[in-house]
Amino acid sequence: MARELVRSPGMVEGRFRADRYGNGEWHVSLGADVAGKECVVLGTVTPPADSMVALGILVHTLKKEGARRITALLPYLAYARADKDHERESMGAAWLGGFLASSGVDEVVTVDLHSDRDRVLFPIPIVSLSPATLFARAFGGRRLRDAVVVAPDRGAIPQCEAARTALGILRPAAYFEKHRHGRRMTQCGPFGDVGETAILIDDIFDTGMTLSLAVRALRKRGVRSIFVAATHGLFTDLKFRPDSVAGMVVTDTIPRTKGPPKGVKVLSVIPLLKGHFGARYA
Ligand code: R5P
Repeated sequence: MARELVRSPGMVEGRFRADRYGNGEWHVSLGADVAGKECVVLGTVTPPADSMVALGILVHTLKKEGARRITALLPYLAYARADKDHERESMGAAWLGGFLASSGVDEVVTVDLHSDRDRVLFPIPIVSLSPATLFARAFGGRRLRDAVVVAPDRGAIPQCEAARTALGILRPAAYFEKHRHGRRMTQCGPFGDVGETAILIDDIFDTGMTLSLAVRALRKRGVRSIFVAATHGLFTDLKFRPDSVAGMVVTDTIPRTKGPPKGVKVLSVIPLLKGHFGARYA
């Protein structure tokens, strides 16, 4: 992703070395002068936490050496789902925002931010790039103008509306209501007209439980053809078979060591990133 991105006009590749002391603590040395420069650090805060520590110490070093502005480019903003304040429970989003800001990050750029509450919890601005055009391109050739876009919970409605506009679909989006009871999940719906072809869109595909319940309910309502698009494919302990639907896409925001599950097509977010940074630095 970084190799592709540095080909954008106005961007050059930065150089640094990150190694460890004997006991595993990180040490960073920069390979170029960064004083007065704008730096974009492409990284991840997805577990395991070690990569997040490396990101923090690199950003801190850039700031210490006089970088003018530091943007953390985190295609998947882990912890963003932990955006509610429940008594005696952690609030991961607020903690992550504090960690990034205190390391020296001035702004975060991500893809498909989980919720607007994250913006309130972060002490620094978050720019969220919409994957709607990628989904539209992936499904656009399939004559889906008569399909209905469906949100598996209320939180996904804004993403669905953006994708609906990009796909040129006129029928209003339908939605489910989702409730979590500890580890259990229930869904009511769908609310709205669903027709015969549906495109389910969500920001995160984790275990797939949310989409699995939605697919089952849509089939009961007579939907024959179901497509699925999820921005961040975590694929943890799968509860849903992607090859059981007509088509499923995710993007490449999650660093992955092996291929995606059968039936999943992975879309590159590079066009979104190039569009954003190209407009800023070209
Ligand atoms: C939660 O509100 C998110 O938007 C996703 O719906 C959720 O994280 C998906 O998780 P799972 O695939 O495990 O149901």
